[in-house]
Amino acid sequence: MAMMWAGRFSKEIASDVNDFNSSISFDSRMYRQDIAGSIAHARMLGEQGIIDPSESEAIIAGLKGILEDMESGSLKIDPNAEDIHMFIEAELTKRIGDAGKRLHTARSRNDQVAVDLKLYLKDEIKTIADMVRELIGCLIAISQEHIETVMPGYTHMQRAQPVTFAHHLMAYAQMFARDLERLSDCCRRADVMPLGSCALAGTTYPLDRRRTAELLGFRDITLNSLDGVSDRDYAIELAGVLSIIMMHLSRFSEEIILWCSWEFKFIELDDAYSTGSSIMPQKKNPDITELIRGKTARVYGDLQTLLTMMKGLPLAYNKDMQEDKEAIFDAADTVKMCIKTFIPMLKTMTVNKDNMRAAAAKGFINATDCADYLVKKGMPFRTAYKITGTLVARCIELNTTLEQLRIEEYNKLSELFDSDVYDAIALDRCVMTRGVEGGPAPDAVKAQIAELKERVKNIKI
Ligand code: ARG
Repeated sequence: MAMMWAGRFSKEIASDVNDFNSSISFDSRMYRQDIAGSIAHARMLGEQGIIDPSESEAIIAGLKGILEDMESGSLKIDPNAEDIHMFIEAELTKRIGDAGKRLHTARSRNDQVAVDLKLYLKDEIKTIADMVRELIGCLIAISQEHIETVMPGYTHMQRAQPVTFAHHLMAYAQMFARDLERLSDCCRRADVMPLGSCALAGTTYPLDRRRTAELLGFRDITLNSLDGVSDRDYAIELAGVLSIIMMHLSRFSEEIILWCSWEFKFIELDDAYSTGSSIMPQKKNPDITELIRGKTARVYGDLQTLLTMMKGLPLAYNKDMQEDKEAIFDAADTVKMCIKTFIPMLKTMTVNKDNMRAAAAKGFINATDCADYLVKKGMPFRTAYKITGTLVARCIELNTTLEQLRIEEYNKLSELFDSDVYDAIALDRCVMTRGVEGGPAPDAVKAQIAELKERVKNIKI
């Protein structure tokens, strides 16, 4: 196959080298962005009189035809093409003749690929942001059903203090809201157009770069041509944000895996979102969540690929950078796939309130409240802490709970204890009274939900 750059060469490229060099198998997914970029560039070239306006029109019409034929499937991508940019340009020239050869005036594939990738990733960010919004909405909806569902809160995987299921879920909603902010922030920095940087040193043609940016919907243009073609920060930032999203999904998945176990039985996943075992008939496995935990590794890997790929590159473009696409596409695809499965899995899970409450009733998670009771009666916290510790030890000895321990036992350690201690350490009360802003008390969680809804609504991408 004769290459676009054939003039300088006396031989055809070796077939294996062509395969090795080609990025068409993975960059063809940017064909819409490539065509949009070319249309804007051709329009601006025509407006500036750099090419004849009639040729500009011919190029635009030709590109629109190519887009239509690619969408309908009637134009097949040539797997031997070097990349999507070369493929579309060659097809254009095939269709409209010489005018097609003018499209690449004052442009290089270096700024072309950068603009394509930015356009593509901006769309991906918007899609992922919508999915994250939906996930937050789903968490809020489930939380609203469980404002009073008491469960143990843990530290060190040991029962610590009582919270509610709503409060626990809303902790994840907070994480995903931050992810949304990060996506918005990353999108803003990606929203800067590099076209006009050309190969590396800009051009002598009188381009109107701001006009091209306006046509493509970029908020600004890059202001250093070397940086314009060699910057991949936006892909790295996005991979970073996606890694954090995966880390959140993975922590959540880990909890769901635990909650599904017979040891916990806090929730049950719907049959449609679980799998069985090929040998053990009793098994119902939370494979989705395990896979999400596993896929987190590959997204972290994608981030590492991008960081390592860039770390030794001198300015400006180097072919190493062609490796950026598979990594960032994989990271975005993986996150989309995970969220898409995660949301209906959450929506269909059954919450076992009784087991949550039973777990909260054991494990002395009201011990802090017992100590606080003494503090309210004037005792210093450290003294109260020690007395409560002794009470817990006594309960363990007698195989009982603080709620059931007789008042005489309490009074052996302090005369400050009265029968009202039982109210103070009642499970519901322990939750109800944790009304500090950001706490698990129902009113505090309701306020948290209202604040988060508003915050998320105001994150613009
Ligand atoms: N396929 C290339 C990439 O993805 C496009 C840019 C090629 N530029 C070049 N000078 N060879 O990076």
